[in-house]
Amino acid sequence: MKTEIVSAVRAERAFSGDQADDPSQTGATALVRARFSEGCAKAIKLLREGKVVALPTETVYGLAADAFNPDAVAKIFEAKERPRFDPLIVHLPNRKVLDEIAIVDSPIASQLIEKFWPGPLTIVFRKCDVVPDIVTAGLKTVAVRMSAHPVFSEIVSALDRPLAAPSANRFGCVSPTTSQHVLDELDGRIPLIVDGGAAEHGIESTIVRIVNGVIEVLRRGAIPEEMLHPFGEVRERTPASVILAPGQLLSHYAPKTRLIMVKRLQDFRATPGRRTGTLSLSPVAEIGPRSSPRPTTAATTADFAAVRYLSERGDLREAAANLFRVLRELDAENLDLIVAERVPEGGIGAAINDRLERAST
Ligand code: TXA
Ligand code: MG
Repeated sequence: MKTEIVSAVRAERAFSGDQADDPSQTGATALVRARFSEGCAKAIKLLREGKVVALPTETVYGLAADAFNPDAVAKIFEAKERPRFDPLIVHLPNRKVLDEIAIVDSPIASQLIEKFWPGPLTIVFRKCDVVPDIVTAGLKTVAVRMSAHPVFSEIVSALDRPLAAPSANRFGCVSPTTSQHVLDELDGRIPLIVDGGAAEHGIESTIVRIVNGVIEVLRRGAIPEEMLHPFGEVRERTPASVILAPGQLLSHYAPKTRLIMVKRLQDFRATPGRRTGTLSLSPVAEIGPRSSPRPTTAATTADFAAVRYLSERGDLREAAANLFRVLRELDAENLDLIVAERVPEGGIGAAINDRLERAST
């Protein structure tokens, strides 16, 4: 199968209608916006035919199929080589469809929806029978979100049906944040990738469920836990506890190169002869280029085959958006080891550390 990448940018065609005969309009060109871009139009057609298509979302690129069509959903599992026991997130065209596929019986859930949708918050509900078992891997619950990405929302609205969409990477690999990443992972396996530029958040949605009035975080993500506090008690499901979502496997975001996490990069000594790369939030004293005179024992940039920062200015949002791209870049450097320094835990830092921890298992 040939995989095509098509831009989601709307073509602006020159229009020569009546104005062409109107001398006052000489030289003027009326610009007509096509209703859908070529990318969106192709995606809508393929999705209607039961095919899978990679689409941009505000978090990471997703691999979408009609959630009500089990054969189409099966193609997602095939393309990703994803085990069938790992359930998918369903993306809604609008709030109304939620009541058709899930039972919303918690006022907290309604408040979270009001506040965060469309956006990077996924909520797990009891599911209705219309949702095929293949989508939820046989679970009685369904994970639902509504994407804020204009391209995704345009396509899902045009279809007026929910789309099942996991991240558009092969199972166990790092999530794609650009159309090129998707191509690297799924070339030849899917017909179309709609290019909508680099993903804004760069990290997946936060997944929660409401249990007895408590908000349980099943996966840390683009909505920091602090933002959930106004809505009730928040409890974290640690990865060590029962795997509720079979997909919450520890080694879920793994680069091919071995990765270890450290508290302070300055304390790490590279083994001579081993190609070691470093990953940190911003330039680290001693090893970064801004280092001033350093103790002779401290590591220096020269000790490392590759040195990467998630955000030169130490901004955690920017760091999240860069994380998966930088991991891919380091993975391409032929290193023996990647040493990643923990970032501060506040806000989205928690989700970044979570992804790094999983990458290190
Ligand atoms: O940002 C995102 O959430 C991206 C974009 C494409 O929307 N999607 C995404 O999907 O990250 P995926 O499949 O890569 O991760 C979804 C996670 C999986 O770990 C899965 O096990 C969990 O959600 N999940 C799905 N249904 C669930 C359910 N009913 N209960 C608990 N966890 C569920
Ligand atoms: Mg994924």
